Amino acid sequence: MTRSILFVCLGNICRSPSAEAVTRAKALARDLPLELDSAGTGAWHVGEPPYGAMQVCAAKRGYDLAPLRARQVTAQDFERFDLIVAMDADNLRNLQDLAPNSARAKLALFTDFAPQTGADHVPDPYYTRDFDGTLDLVEICADALLDQL
Ligand code: 4NP
Repeated sequence: MTRSILFVCLGNICRSPSAEAVTRAKALARDLPLELDSAGTGAWHVGEPPYGAMQVCAAKRGYDLAPLRARQVTAQDFERFDLIVAMDADNLRNLQDLAPNSARAKLALFTDFAPQTGADHVPDPYYTRDFDGTLDLVEICADALLDQL
């Protein structure tokens, strides 16, 4: 049974904190008790809150990213979480490289839960600047993931 999920992107300031907050809201609405967190494969933004434009866009949909702080993925995460969900294929490859032999977490690509979207990754709005497009996809993937738990 999946009780804990870690969402992972590169910086942990745009995609994965959004995935965490959106999935938390949707899990709450479904009365599903889940432990949720997010982290980045990179360390550039450790300790920082989510990116300003991402926070503003998420807040308009009722998702509060403000309390979140960026952190880097650790080896312990592979013991602590049932499922680690990557935002793109680079993140997934980095996770596979980091995974200790004792890892119990399953690894997955967020978009694989929602094949109907045709997306094979969650685009990084830090570069695309399409924060709403990323949130649209994150909302669909979060619902699809919860449907499949
Ligand atoms: P994220 O976006 O992986 O969705 O948090 C990024 C934010 C910052 C950087 C890379 C990706 N950066 O290199 O600073």
